[in-house]
Amino acid sequence: MSAEGLEKKKTIDLRKKHIGPSCKIFFSHDPIKIVQAKGQYMYDENGQRYLDCINNVAHVGHCHPDVVKAGAEQMGFLNTNTRFLHDNLVLYAQRLQATLPEKLSVCYFVNSGSEANDLALRLAWQYTGNKDVITLENAYHGHVSSLIDISPYKFHQLSAAAEQNLFVHVAPSPDVYRGKYRVDHPDTATAYADEVKDIIDNVHKKGRKIAAFIAESLQSCGGQVIPPVGYFQQVAEHVHKAGGVFIADEVQVGFGRVGSRFWAFQLQGDDFVPDIVTMGKPIGNGHPMSCVVTTREVAEAFMASGMEYFNTFGGNPVSCAIGLAVLDVIEKEDLQGNALRVGQHLTNLLGKLKERHSLIGDIRGCGLFVGVELVKDRVKLTPATAEAQEVIYRLKEQHILLSADGPHRNVLKFKPPLCFTAQDADLVVEKIDLILTGTLVFMSRA
Ligand SMILES: Cc1ncc(COP(=O)(O)O)c(C=O)c1O
Repeated sequence: MSAEGLEKKKTIDLRKKHIGPSCKIFFSHDPIKIVQAKGQYMYDENGQRYLDCINNVAHVGHCHPDVVKAGAEQMGFLNTNTRFLHDNLVLYAQRLQATLPEKLSVCYFVNSGSEANDLALRLAWQYTGNKDVITLENAYHGHVSSLIDISPYKFHQLSAAAEQNLFVHVAPSPDVYRGKYRVDHPDTATAYADEVKDIIDNVHKKGRKIAAFIAESLQSCGGQVIPPVGYFQQVAEHVHKAGGVFIADEVQVGFGRVGSRFWAFQLQGDDFVPDIVTMGKPIGNGHPMSCVVTTREVAEAFMASGMEYFNTFGGNPVSCAIGLAVLDVIEKEDLQGNALRVGQHLTNLLGKLKERHSLIGDIRGCGLFVGVELVKDRVKLTPATAEAQEVIYRLKEQHILLSADGPHRNVLKFKPPLCFTAQDADLVVEKIDLILTGTLVFMSRA
């Protein structure tokens, strides 16, 4: 690997001058300049290799040759829009549908997770004729205006003067570790679903009506939260009774990451089927594309509005060729199976680490979606935010990329490419072990 291109300092200077200052960079005091990547590894301008535990977009591995080839070949042949017939579009829609419950049969292809969720809201509004949306505490659903409104993760960062939009209602995050109802509660699924029911009742009292409940199938930015089984079924029942629809945001957690199932909402059981599913990030392995899948009924209602839906880039032949290649690689390389096996190995190792480090309060995960919550006190659950930052900075020194998230930024978040190996898991856990030992010594000295 050669050190071609600008000197790192020049890249930093130009970035400061020309890129919006709210576009944050990892490790701002010493950012990393990545010039190449392959599989689960990224390389800086000096050829230094980093183990990537965070890039869930590079789902089947960075720069997977099959995906690159599919995109390049189609780009050299034809790229146009969905106003022309093309086999890639329909074959891809058919392949995606085959991964989903039967009633989710109609696709809209778009370009980003935000576009997908914005369209999902439009579908819900049009289908139900209602306006109000229930979202979860700490949720993030995208960066466009309609989604900032329903993303407490973001709107809580605004100044005190900013008010929650009247049509938005925030339900407690179904977090059984730190949330309102915890593991010691006899029925967390019902308790959290009843909170949603209470919100619906209050909305009705105000003369308003519910259009949708939206949630990630597993909350990611919200702190790697795994909702109790049965929660979505009960929420869906309350929401449907109120005339609304259930939107499952699979932008981060879909496409086999959770190991035992292809879609994370399926972890709730086969008796749960959302009305709308949104997909993004891993869908194109880094190529900007995304999708909304819904039922025939919802799609027909959207059509009945009389307005055409046209998207210049969504569903173009290149994106569809890439999407098909991603599905092929997941299957060919059994990446869903790998997520299950390596994820289990990783959580086992982390579980053993928890026995030795009191700073680790909770380990939770499904497949290669894993959270490690750091706390200063296992009873009070005092978030160990600074310690989590310390861990990720020290890991960076060891050339391992991990991030911390959640409302207290104290949850170490594993979401690596699905080609992550058991050896990669061994390495990162070994390093965390060493760092935690050092951190504890460091803290007791402080
Ligand atoms: C759960 C979830 N939904 C939606 C989005 C928005 O996706 P995008 O950044 O592609 O617009 C994100 C992005 O982080 C996300 O995590």
